[in-house]
Amino acid sequence: MAHYGDMQNAIYAGGLNGILPDFPVDFASLEERAEKALSPGLLNYVQGGCGDEHTQESNASAFHQWGMVPRMMVDCRKRDLSIDLFGIRLPSPVFMAPIGLNGEVTQDRKGDLAAAQASAETGVPFCASTLSNTPLEDVVEATGDTPAFFQLYTPKHEGLAESLIVRAQEAGYKALVITLDTWVTGWRPRDLNTANFPQLRGKVLENYFSDPVFQSLLEKPPQEEPETAIGTWAATFGKVLTWDDIGWFRDITDMPIVLKGICHEDDARKAADHGVDAIYCSNHGGRQANGGIAAIDMLPGVVAGAGSVPVLFDSGIRSGSDVVKAIALGATAVGIGRPYTYGLAIGGARGAAHVLRSILAEADLLMAVNGYPNLEAVRAAGARRV
Ligand code: FNR
Repeated sequence: MAHYGDMQNAIYAGGLNGILPDFPVDFASLEERAEKALSPGLLNYVQGGCGDEHTQESNASAFHQWGMVPRMMVDCRKRDLSIDLFGIRLPSPVFMAPIGLNGEVTQDRKGDLAAAQASAETGVPFCASTLSNTPLEDVVEATGDTPAFFQLYTPKHEGLAESLIVRAQEAGYKALVITLDTWVTGWRPRDLNTANFPQLRGKVLENYFSDPVFQSLLEKPPQEEPETAIGTWAATFGKVLTWDDIGWFRDITDMPIVLKGICHEDDARKAADHGVDAIYCSNHGGRQANGGIAAIDMLPGVVAGAGSVPVLFDSGIRSGSDVVKAIALGATAVGIGRPYTYGLAIGGARGAAHVLRSILAEADLLMAVNGYPNLEAVRAAGARRV
């Protein structure tokens, strides 16, 4: 039986023939490589966060305050990392979080397709962002047999919102992830100091420009009058959502509905009461609001509030051990964000696939060593505050 951890055997075997891995397996080295690969503007946008970036840094460092205790005399030669989500059996609890700048980070500016290919290669589901250089239909096609999710930034224009949702459903996405925390952009000093906001430069807007309802708002096609199209995008971006809106989404789509950005236990409870299919605990990687608490420290409360509703988690995951800790604290599935985007930047689809495989290998080997043959055992063992 093959295991994710087998990746290390292949690396060491390569070393015997003088072959080193093309890409690093740890986050610090990966980030260092990405810093060299990305232009200053892109690096600021991907690496940067809100305010003095304290929340963003806490997201990652807070994982050090949680520890797991190994169990011995357990036969862990076979590990099972699979989960059920939305009635789909997935080989691992890991997915690719929506990153609305993937399109820009590869040389060919088709990073969304590269991310989708990495998903197809690894079996790790890709949550495609509304902000994309490639229309959502082409992105999902590139994910092959791996299920994909669509993340929606809900436009103020109802017809446009409906059109994007219907397109996503018809294209074959398996869930609708509605981001709640970004109807307005948070205060991001790195981007402000360089007066750089990629969308206002016409980047990553292809889902809008290819949309018939969006096009009907324009007198001329976006290619002919890009400034008007960008202005229309800015004017329609960012509906403020309230609990009353859930019914509207339900009327439009049969896709499972996931609410992204829930950090408070009571909000998780409300989301469960409103019948959503999953709750996504995330603080947007500290990009939207500074001054918050690390997302992983919010996870146990969200899990308690969610009851039997599955909880997805991201913000600060940098390694396989972070993934296992999030599972131990009650997450059903765990989103990788910046690490795979750095992988795209340094090596396209191959780079992103390498990052995902490295994270899975570390998670698998941690479970092997710690005596956790499956995710139920991880949850039963739990994580302790240290
Ligand atoms: C994001 N994130 C994000 N979220 C979302 O719902 N839609 C989006 O388009 C984007 N775009 C985006 C761009 C960039 C450059 C980053 C870094 C992040 C947030 C993302 O889904 C996830 O919540 C964070 O990336 C998690 O934090 P870490 O683990 O990447 O630090």
